[in-house]
Amino acid sequence: MTLPNYRVDGKVALVTGTGSGLGKAIALALAESGADVGLTELPDRLEAARETAREVERLGRRALAIPLDVLRLPMIEEAVGAALGHFGRIDILVNNAGLNVPKLAVDVTEADWDRVVDVDLKGVFFASQAVAKGAMIPQGGGKIVNIASIMGAVGYTHRAAYCASKAGVVNLTRVLAIEWARYRINVNAVGPTFVETPLTRPMFQDREFREDVMRRIPLGRLGTPEDVAAAAVYLASPAADLVTGHNLIVDGGWTAI
Ligand SMILES: NC(=O)c1ccc[n+]([C@@H]2O[C@H](COP(=O)([O-])OP(=O)(O)OC[C@H]3O[C@@H](n4cnc5c(N)ncnc54)[C@H](O)[C@@H]3O)[C@@H](O)[C@H]2O)c1
Repeated sequence: MTLPNYRVDGKVALVTGTGSGLGKAIALALAESGADVGLTELPDRLEAARETAREVERLGRRALAIPLDVLRLPMIEEAVGAALGHFGRIDILVNNAGLNVPKLAVDVTEADWDRVVDVDLKGVFFASQAVAKGAMIPQGGGKIVNIASIMGAVGYTHRAAYCASKAGVVNLTRVLAIEWARYRINVNAVGPTFVETPLTRPMFQDREFREDVMRRIPLGRLGTPEDVAAAAVYLASPAADLVTGHNLIVDGGWTAI
């Protein structure tokens, strides 16, 4: 039997939000698995993506740091153009950029709501559309991996806009999977439990919060960037060629309860 493998040799990946946390780990995991990587980051944090790019190059792959604020839609087209100009193609898109403004629902302002939904949901849609139209449809295929969250599957306090956005990403993933199957574009999501990153580190200073989260995870630990990167590489690899429209939950059993 010849099993498809989990490598992405010779592929070009574009990963959003790569200066820290999960995006950085996913970019390095894709590079370790054989891909060249375009690494987007907010313009004022671009140096962090350049550092990730140097790490990708130390792994023997090509890398390009690209400025991108997904709140500015024309910048998405420019970022895709920059990646195409440099690498000539995009085989894998990982929509990782995201944020949360943790507040009780009664305190959420319109600006808070718009910021979270625009980055976490609208950004995912328009980055996917730009890469599909600009690269994957003309090329004849590709793999899109959306970093959703366990918060797309369960509710949790202080996360009205975040949970709504991530649940939106999960269902958007299904729609794009259906529409773009004819172009041989697989679209999947990853749903991680809490991982300690710059996004969540301040929250975990709160002992009560940490204990509440740990109580919900049967396997008894938080996620690591590597847990999430492994799922993203799998979905980007030939091993997942028949997987599309799926949300791969990486949550230590939280949603199994
Ligand atoms: N850390 C967790 O516990 C956890 C759990 C589940 C899902 N996630 C998701 O994983 C993804 C990465 O989060 P992280 O924990 O690594 O946090 P992080 O803050 O380290 O990374 C977020 C990245 O997104 C970028 N970003 C923020 N706003 C942007 C914008 N407007 N345009 C472009 N890029 C922007 C940031 O600069 C950063 O590189 C997010 O989508 C997050 O929702 C995180």
